[in-house]
Amino acid sequence: MHPMEEISSSDAFHAYRPEVVVFVLSVDGKGRPNGMVAAWNMKCSDEPPLLAVAAEKNTNTHRLIEESNEFVIAVPSKALEKDILYFGSVSGENVDKIKKSKIKTTPSKHIKTPLLADAALNFECRLRSSADAGECTIFIGIVLASHCDPQRKVLFYKGAKDGKRVFEEI
Ligand SMILES: Cc1cc2nc3c(=O)[nH]c(=O)nc-3n(C[C@H](O)[C@H](O)[C@H](O)COP(=O)(O)O)c2cc1C
Repeated sequence: MHPMEEISSSDAFHAYRPEVVVFVLSVDGKGRPNGMVAAWNMKCSDEPPLLAVAAEKNTNTHRLIEESNEFVIAVPSKALEKDILYFGSVSGENVDKIKKSKIKTTPSKHIKTPLLADAALNFECRLRSSADAGECTIFIGIVLASHCDPQRKVLFYKGAKDGKRVFEEI
């Protein structure tokens, strides 16, 4: 048997992988969409279907979800790997990331926020509750509709190796 070693929470969080880094889409008052990526996301209830995402309080996404009470969680496929870094490092406060990246969107069924056309899965969510969580707010959404592309596999993030981020579809 190996003894457990105490490590920093930051190192342990890095080791707690693979994980799915989802795209979180939201819209402003004029219906203009924005997106960011979030590793801190989870399924949290089947009945009713609920999904949670932790968004940092200083993100544009945080502001838009609080204003609109809705969001889309798009689970990426390999086709979206190239967009993850951009959506995860640039704020949409002054930039239209959707237009700049040429990422493809498609209308939702129940809400104004669009879906990502090349995702493996898309969930349309209405904000149900939120909880304060350190530098983040956890937004819990009730899933109004789920969409899947059966041709696409889910892309997992395995962590950085030799300075490069490693993704794998499963
Ligand atoms: C791999 C990865 C995972 C991330 N996970 C989260 C997360 O779970 N929550 C969060 O608030 N930001 C996360 N970020 C950072 C946001 O995506 C980033 O701050 C983004 O620029 C915010 O965009 P916005 O201001 O347009 O909302 C992550 C970034 C990367 C690259």
